[in-house]
Amino acid sequence: EAFFAQGNTLAGQRVLVTAGGTVERLDPVRYLTNDSSGKMGFAIAEAAKAMGAQVTLIAGRTSAQPPAGVELVRVESAQQMLEAVTERFDTADIVVKAAAVADYRPVKQHGQKLKKNGESLTLELERTTDILQTLGEKKKGQLLIGFAAETEDVERYAMDKLTRKNCDLIVANDVGADGAGFNGDTNIVQLYGPEGLIESLPMLSKREVAQRLLIHAADRMASTRR
Ligand code: CTP
Ligand code: CA
Repeated sequence: EAFFAQGNTLAGQRVLVTAGGTVERLDPVRYLTNDSSGKMGFAIAEAAKAMGAQVTLIAGRTSAQPPAGVELVRVESAQQMLEAVTERFDTADIVVKAAAVADYRPVKQHGQKLKKNGESLTLELERTTDILQTLGEKKKGQLLIGFAAETEDVERYAMDKLTRKNCDLIVANDVGADGAGFNGDTNIVQLYGPEGLIESLPMLSKREVAQRLLIHAADRMASTRR
């Protein structure tokens, strides 16, 4: 308890956080992205820093202010995020994948601005690499934390992601609910581990959600003596 009270529960731990939405370019002035604000991931980075961790924040598109005292790496596409995370994965103790990564990107990225031509346009998209699943396949003792953004059947989809991506914790949020999801300063989440539901949190500020999540992470780090 005294250890927690000092705010040192992650002292000496290297924490890697991804945040924000990825940007998938079609041409130099057009792209596909999503509504992620980056606030949840930034709050996690800030809370981890406050708990004594050495923090690297890999951020896509975001409107949030980067916290002080963390290493900030800016990326644009899912592919760039994959590379930035992969480079730093071996030396990380805890990895939190809060980013909203595009599932698809345009097959062709045009070097010049596309000219309009004809009455309709069909865009061909291809799957991006699943970063979290890639990390889950290669992890060696890292505590891997994923997110699950759902609008229905939250528990089933969250547990399915945890298993499929070999995560240690999943933060599920019902992005359709009031007070939860992408743009606000609050969130309503459930934490799942391999054993099932760990805790269902009430509506809290994203900063408080981050703290509660990291306390569970620190607990698991301690109990598995990584
Ligand atoms: N994720 C990732 N790389 C991707 C897609 C998702 O690392 N290409 C990660 C997200 O950062 C998040 C988790 O996977 O931590 C779940 O993302 P989510 O979009 O909820 O799930 P998906 O597996 O993409 O499934 P779907 O969108 O079909 O529900
Ligand atoms: Ca997705």
